[in-house]
Amino acid sequence: MKPSVHHTLLAALLGAAGAPSFAQGPGELVLYCGVQEEWCRPMAAAFEKATNIKVLMTRKSSGEIYAQIKAEAANPKGDVWWGGTGDPQLQAAEEALTDPYVSPKLDELQDWAVKQARASKFRTVGIYAGALGYSFNTQELAKRKLAEPKCWADLAKPIYKDDVQVANPNSSGTAYTMLATLVQLLGEQKAFDLMKAMHKNVNQYTKSGAAPARVAATGESLIGITFQHDAVTQAVNGAPVKVVSPCEGTGYEIGSMSIIKGAKNLANARKWYDWALSPEAQAIAGAAKSFQVPSNKKAPVPEQAPKLANIKLIDYDFAKYGSSAERTRLLKKWDDEVSKLPK
Ligand code: G6P
Repeated sequence: MKPSVHHTLLAALLGAAGAPSFAQGPGELVLYCGVQEEWCRPMAAAFEKATNIKVLMTRKSSGEIYAQIKAEAANPKGDVWWGGTGDPQLQAAEEALTDPYVSPKLDELQDWAVKQARASKFRTVGIYAGALGYSFNTQELAKRKLAEPKCWADLAKPIYKDDVQVANPNSSGTAYTMLATLVQLLGEQKAFDLMKAMHKNVNQYTKSGAAPARVAATGESLIGITFQHDAVTQAVNGAPVKVVSPCEGTGYEIGSMSIIKGAKNLANARKWYDWALSPEAQAIAGAAKSFQVPSNKKAPVPEQAPKLANIKLIDYDFAKYGSSAERTRLLKKWDDEVSKLPK
């Protein structure tokens, strides 16, 4: 039909001239999502429903999103980085890859979430917290008549040869949290000695942090190192797993959010930011079987969320381990001294 030909021509001409669209609709939002896909999807859908803004979402691991934003810095493609561990978001803040924004919702948040914002000069903010740990398959353990692992040190015992799965700390914020946790718990030398000994037991370094909880659930790997809430998700789904808070103590994450510098849809990015800090948006987590502790004080804490007050948590130094120099140095050291070791 003629009118549509005209429209097409007009659109092509305008496009060629780089003219903006006449339609001032709600537009879109490019979201880099760092949590489980099962939680990313209902978040995107609920935001679309509330605002009519179209969400273009990609799920990736924390270290991968950091690397992508850095690679795209000259021509940013993403608007918001939502979810995943806080350390790489602090590093991005320090490197000015993200933009400052003081949300009116900050007043409603837990101190640990606001602390993250202050430390980054408001380039990032805490959206949830969760403790690190591991889980093991109870049926496999019983079948093989093995002792229950209880500590970090147990994961290096020869009885668990090829039985441990953990992610690669370069791609995964979870695995970097483990690296930084062990350094803070044991001192750097002892932490690397333990990771080297553990290397013999690691059957695979996965890309994503939560993957080891899924293989521990099926029994493909006896033990999976993840955030404890990722293992709880498997238990809630009926898997025979036991969640362990390591006896020496453990670290935790402040899952975070940042607006990408040069975001093409800045107004929409800020809308997402405020919305994602609201109790309603944070309540989506529990419904999606993500059992972190939410950062808004009024958001419901899922009943299954591991109780942080009952876990022996270290005073994780986010400023230090989220700094560009320290994260880069530790990752290189892990690459050079742990990952290349023969089994
Ligand atoms: C899972 C956890 C999140 C965590 C994220 C980190 O999704 O549920 O709490 O922030 O993993 O992912 P990564 O793949 O970077 O370790």
